[in-house]
Amino acid sequence: MDNLSDNLIAGPMHAAIKSASWIRQMFEEGNRLREEVGAENVFDFSLGNPSAPPPKEFQDALIHAAKESTPQDHRYMTNIGRLDTRQFMAESLQDVHGPGLNADHVIMTCGAAGGLNVFLKSVLNPEDEVMLLKPYFPEYLFYVGNHGGKTVFVDTDEDFQPDLEAIKASLNEKSRVLILNTPNNPSGVVYSKTVVDQIGSIIEDHAEKIGRPVYLVMDEPYRRIRYCDEQHPSVLQSCRFGIVISSFSKELGLAGERIGFLVYSPQLESPETLVSAMSVATRTLGFVNAPAFMQRVLLECATACVDLSQYKLHRDMLYQALTEFGYKMPRPDGAFFLFPKAPGGDDLAFLDVLRKFHVLCVPGRGFGTPGHIRISYAVPTETVERAIPLFKKAIDAQRNS
Ligand SMILES: Cc1ncc(COP(=O)(O)O)c(C=O)c1O
Repeated sequence: MDNLSDNLIAGPMHAAIKSASWIRQMFEEGNRLREEVGAENVFDFSLGNPSAPPPKEFQDALIHAAKESTPQDHRYMTNIGRLDTRQFMAESLQDVHGPGLNADHVIMTCGAAGGLNVFLKSVLNPEDEVMLLKPYFPEYLFYVGNHGGKTVFVDTDEDFQPDLEAIKASLNEKSRVLILNTPNNPSGVVYSKTVVDQIGSIIEDHAEKIGRPVYLVMDEPYRRIRYCDEQHPSVLQSCRFGIVISSFSKELGLAGERIGFLVYSPQLESPETLVSAMSVATRTLGFVNAPAFMQRVLLECATACVDLSQYKLHRDMLYQALTEFGYKMPRPDGAFFLFPKAPGGDDLAFLDVLRKFHVLCVPGRGFGTPGHIRISYAVPTETVERAIPLFKKAIDAQRNS
């Protein structure tokens, strides 16, 4: 058989493998380096895996739920999730999203990723456009592609804040979804309530103009991973087509458990078909329902959060040291990333310089913004301490080259 290896998979998957290959390359490069110089001498800031352990409330809830578990807790259930968990989520989210929320507005999902796929499957017609602000979380490209949508990239300002004029200019008859993400991966910046309110009005006006809903999605798995007093914006209040998608991957450190949720705005009129579509999509995408045991566990720990002190310490140490050395970036007030400009302007070239000092980061081009590097500080404190002088050596080496 000719080209067996090529023909084992579908054509579009070749492109998917290729576009995901820089992540693999980094991973392989990291392994190679670890073998060469020893794991303790490699400073890997490339991973987005939360390092803060789940809080004690989670351990207690886990043990309690395991002891109390009944056969019913492990069976198939309504596709959108347990009623008591959805009720609990609605109540616990009222401090951010207002008193109008109830269980009907909440759908439990397999992480934020599952929520995004269920939602996009439910609302996208072929060629419908999904707008992403640059820099964006790269997996969005796959999720939009999974459901036949087309991605449209929208510039942000130099501090990676939304540019309202650029958003307006990106809208047309095919616009269907705008995805926002705050606190942001990869930039770490947070959006204000004022700017999200303004975007909400732009989206509502445009929906009116084209005569069909345009959704404003806030992907917020880092909502409580923040280090500033700025109130988290409620997209559900800013826009009647507002959708929150979130998870416990970062806030409870449960990325591997695949538990998350979606909430639609109580202002949305006639939501029944959207809910039915999301229920069917949860089933037909093969999720069937969000993990049953985790839904049960959340009843006792959903409002807890990982200890943020280590993330904040790393943010402070790195932001202060790197800006002193001459790296340029907006202050990251949330998530666990810094996204400085690559000294010299070329992200790949600067990653090579960093690699010489055994420091690994991710190129900004993977997030739609070449010329930057992403530094994930979800790492041990010792890694941060030992790497800081190496970031200095790298910028000096680049200057002297
Ligand atoms: C911005 C953003 N959205 C969504 C996700 C997916 O998270 P989850 O583990 O909840 O599916 C991630 C994970 O890193 C993320 O950074």
